Amino acid sequence: MSVSSSAVRPIRWAIVGSGGIARRTVGDLRLCPEARLVAICSRSRERADAFAAEHGLPLAFDDYTALCASPEVDAVYIGTPHATHFALARQALVAGKHVLCEKPLTMTADEARTLGRLAAEHGVLVMEAMWMKFSPAMQRAVELVREGVIGQPRFLQAGLGYPVPANGPARFWDPALGGGALYDMGVYLLTLAQMFLGEPEEVRVTGQMRPDGVDLAEAITLRYAGGAMAQLATSIIGWMPPRGWLGGDGGAIDFQEPLFSPGGLKVSTGRPPAPPQVQQLDFPREGAGYAPMFRAAHQAIRAGQTEHPQHPVAATAAVLDLMQRVQALMAVERDAGASAGLGAGSAPGAEASPPGARP
Ligand SMILES: NC(=O)c1ccc[n+]([C@@H]2O[C@H](COP(=O)([O-])OP(=O)(O)OC[C@H]3O[C@@H](n4cnc5c(N)ncnc54)[C@H](OP(=O)(O)O)[C@@H]3O)[C@@H](O)[C@H]2O)c1
Repeated sequence: MSVSSSAVRPIRWAIVGSGGIARRTVGDLRLCPEARLVAICSRSRERADAFAAEHGLPLAFDDYTALCASPEVDAVYIGTPHATHFALARQALVAGKHVLCEKPLTMTADEARTLGRLAAEHGVLVMEAMWMKFSPAMQRAVELVREGVIGQPRFLQAGLGYPVPANGPARFWDPALGGGALYDMGVYLLTLAQMFLGEPEEVRVTGQMRPDGVDLAEAITLRYAGGAMAQLATSIIGWMPPRGWLGGDGGAIDFQEPLFSPGGLKVSTGRPPAPPQVQQLDFPREGAGYAPMFRAAHQAIRAGQTEHPQHPVAATAAVLDLMQRVQALMAVERDAGASAGLGAGSAPGAEASPPGARP
């Protein structure tokens, strides 16, 4: 097991996939003195070499099995399309590498639980790269709610979406890669709801889903024991500013844009008829906003934990379970609508990718 050996030297990371997120996070990984980025793994020799040269990395792999076998790598950060996460994470865990994997960790809750079991068996960390949860603003918001500053949470509203061009990244449009709004952006909203309200008792959804299972837009309503509610909306065909707020019986917290890495919180407290007292809390962003998440992963690795206590696999799996339910409900709605002539076949992107196996 690499936990004890990596305790005496920097944790040596490899990035898997040389695409958009790899480029966005590379600088933040380097902000952490307890870690060293040593490798890139790409499906292409040329892209691996080019990424390594651009970022000054000593190792460039074009063979994932070779990366997993390398004694010079302790941990992998997986930044590939959603549907590839499970197989890549499983292989790395079995090889004894720590895994930090982009969201969503896997496509199903069962796959996530399998990764959790493998991490425990092999004594290494597995963690979804849910950077939103580790942003200083969100950490403070959790504390404020725990301290009772807004009273009992009653309602969460949050949205996140933008019109992805039909010729934009395939991961949005290709059902084989896990395309759609829910798995890419909705995962933040459902995670946010879980952070503040727990697990819902009831799920309702209305939206637009293509025949191949790619969801274009949806509005999700969640209802919790005790009566709290969440209303969440996501889309890949229209703008939904990345905003949200949580209201309680003693106040409210506005998460300032962007929701997944808020620069501030507006905290309003009080009870009518007195006007609310408003406090603005600002949180300067460190790097591109991913550094706190990397640091959290490093702390868990150093502590010999196989899951992060603030973002354990059970939490990830519960969100995935919810996403599967939302997908299934949308498929039912689509099929009912299709039989009534109301399908999403004419929606933007409808012709952009081949039929796939999703519901
Ligand atoms: N946390 C965030 O802020 C954030 C932002 C954007 C995306 N993400 C997540 O990061 C993941 C990747 O998103 P991205 O925007 O980086 O995607 P991307 O630009 O399309 O890059 C993904 C990279 O994965 C590699 N890859 C491996 N298998 C692949 C396959 N079957 N098809 C296509 N590419 C494959 C490719 O690199 P090689 O060609 O070098 O192998 C590709 O460049 C997604 O799961 C997404 O949810 C997170």
